[in-house]
Amino acid sequence: MIDDIFDDEHFLRDAGIDTLAVRAGIRRTQEGEHSEPIFTTSSYVFESAQAAANRFSGEEPGNVYSRYTNPTVRVFQERIAALEGGEAAVATSSGMGAILTLCMALLKSGDHVICSRSVFGTTSVLFNKYMGKMGVSTTFVNPLDYDQWQQALTDQTRLMFIETPSNPLCDVVDIARLAEIAHKGGCKLVVDNCFCTPALQRPLSLGADIVVHSATKYLDGQGRCVGGAIVGNVADMDEALAFVRSCGPTMSPFNAWVFLKGLETLRLRMDAHSANALTLANWLHAKTTEANPVIEKVFYAGLASHPGHELAAKQQRAFGGVLSFRVVGGREQAWKFIDATKIMSLTANLGDAKTTIVHPATTTHGRLSDDDKRTAGITESLIRISVGLESIEDLIADLERGVAALNG
Ligand SMILES: Cc1ncc(COP(=O)(O)O)c(C=O)c1O
Repeated sequence: MIDDIFDDEHFLRDAGIDTLAVRAGIRRTQEGEHSEPIFTTSSYVFESAQAAANRFSGEEPGNVYSRYTNPTVRVFQERIAALEGGEAAVATSSGMGAILTLCMALLKSGDHVICSRSVFGTTSVLFNKYMGKMGVSTTFVNPLDYDQWQQALTDQTRLMFIETPSNPLCDVVDIARLAEIAHKGGCKLVVDNCFCTPALQRPLSLGADIVVHSATKYLDGQGRCVGGAIVGNVADMDEALAFVRSCGPTMSPFNAWVFLKGLETLRLRMDAHSANALTLANWLHAKTTEANPVIEKVFYAGLASHPGHELAAKQQRAFGGVLSFRVVGGREQAWKFIDATKIMSLTANLGDAKTTIVHPATTTHGRLSDDDKRTAGITESLIRISVGLESIEDLIADLERGVAALNG
């Protein structure tokens, strides 16, 4: 059973997000260590046979086995729950592990899910293929068409699932409006908050019921570990933890510790990522207005021309670090641009201090059918950049190399 996260820390209940990012969840051992320790232990020793029996039956609180409770993982869970403003959190082995855990905890055969069609490609595969095999059906809708969400509701609908801003086209979904539709329809709204993190957007405060994270991205922030988290109310998180306990998609204590260190600088990093991304988006956007442009269109909610700009300004603190753009031409031109960059790393991950560049149609979203790619706007000319923390002049010089390769 998951406890109230502030049981031992009443003084943090009303603390600011920067204080929570550094301090929430800490419980010192008798050694008095200042930094959070890593508990690399798979199991725990009991004082007597009776104590062991009490722990296993749940009569007595405490650790039993690290597949489902570990002190370092617990600090991470309590900190991410505090940052998102949720009652509790469950850590998982990866972001996909978090989405799977959520589904296995809250859905059963015969249930129905409505999912934005602008989600990470593997999330679509999870719903379509694996939840489909388990008898859970999914309807994919245009995330910005609220009538479609409404019309897709059935008596069996249990969850609505979105990413906002979406990957990779940065669509901005109105969380409060969709939460209202979900609640009137008798289901829960789940937000993948990977792109913004709680430093920029807190979906639960806007009416969402559950937040999921790929901790692999900005929560780590330096591309070191794979992990995930789910945040929500105690009843749902108890179900999620019960799934992790029985089925095993557990976060390792070492990874939890890395994520804790990442969280300490989350807001500073998110502000710096957002500032660099806005500069690059403006630079790329200016290229679209040149005579014979090689850049066709830029997708970034920080641009006043983006259809989600006003909404993003309202529901987010800043616009985040991910942008995408279309070059004029197709795959050949996009690959030429990518191959001409020297500083940006050609890798699928995002949310790293190092800027990354990728061709979604042949990598992150490569498993979508041609039809699904078309409806999700993943064209062959699309490039995604996760803007890092390097000097902005060097990143612009890299984009200049890409543009020069297309002009040459
Ligand atoms: C928005 C989003 N959600 C979930 C995931 C899955 O996370 P993980 O790679 O940690 O399983 C990703 C991964 O790229 C992602 O971009």
